[in-house]
Amino acid sequence: MSVTHLDNLDKIVSLSKARGFIFQSSDIYGGLGAVYDYGPLGAELKNNIKSEWWKAMTQFHDNIVGIDAAIFMHPRTWEASGHVEGFNDPMIDDKQSKKRYRADMLIEQHILKLREKGNKEKADEIQQLLDTTGTRKGLCEDLYDIIKAEEIRSPDSGAFDWTEVRQFNLMFKTHYGATSSGDDDIIYLRPETAQGIFVNYKNVLDTARVQVPFGIAQIGKAFRNEVVARQFVFRMREFEQMEMQYFVEPGTDEGEYEKWLETRLNWHKKMGIRENHLRVSPHPKDKLAHYARAAADIQYKYPIGWQEVEGIHNRTDFDLSRHQEYSGKKMEYYDQQKQERYIPYVIETSVGLDRTTLMILCDAYREEEVDGDSRTVLKINPKLAPTKVGIFPLIKKAPLQELAKKLEIDLREEFTVLYDESGSIGKRYRRQDEAGTPFCVTVDFDGVESEGEDTVTIRYRDDMTQDRIPAARVAEVIRDKMKDWSPED
Ligand code: GAP
Repeated sequence: MSVTHLDNLDKIVSLSKARGFIFQSSDIYGGLGAVYDYGPLGAELKNNIKSEWWKAMTQFHDNIVGIDAAIFMHPRTWEASGHVEGFNDPMIDDKQSKKRYRADMLIEQHILKLREKGNKEKADEIQQLLDTTGTRKGLCEDLYDIIKAEEIRSPDSGAFDWTEVRQFNLMFKTHYGATSSGDDDIIYLRPETAQGIFVNYKNVLDTARVQVPFGIAQIGKAFRNEVVARQFVFRMREFEQMEMQYFVEPGTDEGEYEKWLETRLNWHKKMGIRENHLRVSPHPKDKLAHYARAAADIQYKYPIGWQEVEGIHNRTDFDLSRHQEYSGKKMEYYDQQKQERYIPYVIETSVGLDRTTLMILCDAYREEEVDGDSRTVLKINPKLAPTKVGIFPLIKKAPLQELAKKLEIDLREEFTVLYDESGSIGKRYRRQDEAGTPFCVTVDFDGVESEGEDTVTIRYRDDMTQDRIPAARVAEVIRDKMKDWSPED
């Protein structure tokens, strides 16, 4: 059997659309840039990922609880968090094409090109200038000077006709209240779920009988007016995060940070992602976010290259101290045993649900040639697979349909099932292979006409082998196979 792995994102984009995983938002109106809708299979897959994450982060820890905070938050939240002032990207506009670019990224691409051409000395010189932007005239001015001096052209139009570099805040703004319109009523769509956890830290501490160290987990939507938002669900303007803030005693933060980094990396492996497609990339000290003392990305080898799927951050007491300052409410924790007061440090684990979904799809994708026949198959971890079992009567005849329907009803208590009686059996298998369905059960005449108990064939997606088993044992076999599953190379 010859196997081809995924080599470009376009294949996932088309499969996602064809099978009903992910659609462009508002498709019938020409789509909305960097916003996507999840179809029937995508919604199931996403729910399964959420449920695995929630279980791993809350159910398996006696000191982590979950919350579900609102998307709208008091505007002061974002002043305290630093997002109003600091959540900006330096942007430059091509006056001819009217397209907007991240100024630092244009320079990075220019450096890459110089390196590819073997011009290492020049590349190092510009890199040095880029690394020290903000130290000469100011961030925007320094970036603009490099673009001008290097005559960096617009990637799309090829023009050298730029506006100045300006800071562009990534938060979406709207107005709050029925009669609002002025600046007084501005409210933001949250750019991260984390702040919903920080502002509820006291509420949870007072009600959930938790003691430091403890964690608060949350899954929810976040919004960022991303400028470079082209890579399918990798970079979206509306996306979902699964975040956990772990509140620890200062001084224990470095150890906890290392522990969570390892725990989270293991979670990705447990979801069935191949180990050689995962790596940890620590942030250099000079590239840390405004709130972080240490940070690392868990990266996946997407078809667009190694990219962040999750961030682990040591946020120190930055957020709680700032909320204390801006709200005037005490955020201290009283340690009864040590009889000490302190503002806890926070270790954050923050994973994008959409990026995880994309990672699962990419890692599962295979094109296989088997005895002159070809198939596209998603070898998704059965725990996450949107449909667990396809149930097929071999042909549309009453005794086969009856047993198949009975199986459908029995199995749906425990598994997501799909009954399908249309098309050849081969076509039905192929449809389920593309949907990532790990088990297909076929009811044939041999099974219902034999003396004694009814039997069916169960076909396994990954190696396409089949077993004949008693119909009454289908659930048990599926359960066992799901437990034993491991990813192929
Ligand atoms: N609270 C920390 C925080 O938000 P982040 O690194 O900006 O940190 C965390 O985001 C995760 O959220 C990322 O690792 C990524 O998976 C996801 N994410 C961020 N921006 C995204 C976007 N525009 N589209 C899709 N996912 C995004």
